[in-house]
Amino acid sequence: MSKPPTKEEAEARLLKLREQIAQYDYEYYVLDTPTVSDAVWDGLFGELKTIEQTYPELVTPDSPTQRVRGEVSKGFTSVRHKNRMLSLNDVFDEAEVEAWAKRIAKLLPAETKLTFFGDVKKDGLAGSLIYQDGVLQQGVTRGDGFEGEDVTANVRTIKSIPLRLRGKPGSNFLKGRTEVRGEIVLLKKDFEALNKQREKDGLPLFANPRNTAAGTIRQLDPKLVAARKLKFLAYDIIRDNPEDVPTNHFAYQTMKELGFTGGEYSRPITSIKDIHTYVSEWEEKRNDLPYNIDGLVVKLDDRKLYANLGVVGKNPRAAIAYKYPAEQTTTKVKDIFVSIGRTGAATPVAMLEAVVVAGSTVQMATLHNEGEIKRKDIRIGDTVVVQKAGDVIPEVVEPLVKLRTGDEQPFVMPTHCPECNTKLVKLKADEAVWRCPNVQCPSRVHNHIQHFASKGALDIEGMGEKNVLALIDAKLIHDTADLYILTKEQLLELDRFAEISATKLIAAINEKRNPPLARFVFGLGIRHVGAQTAIDLSNHFHTLDTIAKAEIEELAEVEGVGEVV
Ligand code: IVH
Repeated sequence: MSKPPTKEEAEARLLKLREQIAQYDYEYYVLDTPTVSDAVWDGLFGELKTIEQTYPELVTPDSPTQRVRGEVSKGFTSVRHKNRMLSLNDVFDEAEVEAWAKRIAKLLPAETKLTFFGDVKKDGLAGSLIYQDGVLQQGVTRGDGFEGEDVTANVRTIKSIPLRLRGKPGSNFLKGRTEVRGEIVLLKKDFEALNKQREKDGLPLFANPRNTAAGTIRQLDPKLVAARKLKFLAYDIIRDNPEDVPTNHFAYQTMKELGFTGGEYSRPITSIKDIHTYVSEWEEKRNDLPYNIDGLVVKLDDRKLYANLGVVGKNPRAAIAYKYPAEQTTTKVKDIFVSIGRTGAATPVAMLEAVVVAGSTVQMATLHNEGEIKRKDIRIGDTVVVQKAGDVIPEVVEPLVKLRTGDEQPFVMPTHCPECNTKLVKLKADEAVWRCPNVQCPSRVHNHIQHFASKGALDIEGMGEKNVLALIDAKLIHDTADLYILTKEQLLELDRFAEISATKLIAAINEKRNPPLARFVFGLGIRHVGAQTAIDLSNHFHTLDTIAKAEIEELAEVEGVGEVV
């Protein structure tokens, strides 16, 4: 081209390019049958990017250049939740229920009568559906609670999700924005049928319904999703005007009227004593439900009080998850090895004969530390009791000493790091944990980089375990900073990468050159600085420089930061 194109010419060209690239992407990602070489795709994509750089005002959210954000290999765009999707505090017994009720009663006006609403806690993955004037617009996964993935196309295949809300014409909920939240699950019978079929087809079996549902919702091909028979069970409804939904009881009634399922086992709870009744009602029945549950949810019924009580960390004060005690089973310890985490902590891990506990297959269990193994006297070859509560990491409770044959081997904590052979140390003499002090230990480096790139931190799509290991092996990266000087040419020298995958990874890294401060601070992987503390630190100090320069006294002003942190 001799003259640079006018804006009109550029726009016309840009529309054509977008359409063509979208077609190639569809062929490549959805049909899995590319019709052009990587070089052709690169050429068109490069031209599109150049035009968009010249006319940034022409960039639209549906441009393939925008698609690269966080969805390089997966194909989903991220969506910010209008209202954060929260979690729940777990309680495990009556005493904890009462302590919770007392805590919130203290925060409410003295004469408030506490009434609650209870539901079973469905064990799937949370999803949010956005309706505008009664018509389904968007389906979003929970993600990190702030931002999820747009899985609209997949969600539309779930038959229990109304594409248009039911209800009387003129109903408030058919006007404006209505968000319905719920759990996406796979029924036990559908899970079993699916696995039976996979067994016949010689395919690997799925571990449990929850993982299957979670994997399914992120499939690129909605047809595959449609074939898997997911179900959506509604548990919350949100309107711009909170007064549209005065109580949780009302919320469940409304969701039912609008065409959702999910509230079948919910009921109003009239007192704290009645919470205990609700808990014992489900103690037996919980295994007979068509889907897995991982406990009960008890929420304050009045939604104004609920909102006023606020949030601590990621949990609302006004609701709890009641978890039934951990499920246990027995298996054998095949071996014990030491795993080195990103902070250097050397954690003994038991390799177990595979066994199903609380609905999922367990093959490894943490033994926490050397002292714990000694205290429990766990030996290699022992038959042990393992337990798992909800999504907690499985753990070894105790060995069954009477079953010993005499061939069991006591575990000897290595004196040196199994990865880099550095002598293990304790930071303080009375500490339980041995650590590898070598900041360049390959295991530490790899876990640290992976943490930095993970969803909760920088969220660099495509930097999963395998790629991180490959980049370290090839000596292309030695620390997180090296990510930012990686080039496409370097990636192309590795077997794992081709033109498109290399372009996408570099683009994914480039997207994260100016991450939100909190994510960056969390990504640094400072001991005791979790996601919430990272948010609190960045809200307090605003820049990395001020955090770095802060004195201990200034740091201690931040909520949740005490002497230890
Ligand atoms: S109410 C603050 N009700 O549990 C969140 N949640 O641990 C209140 N869940 O993210 C949500 N069944 O995905 C609620 N009947 C139910 C639920 C339920 C399952 C999930 C939900 C939430 C998680 C919180």
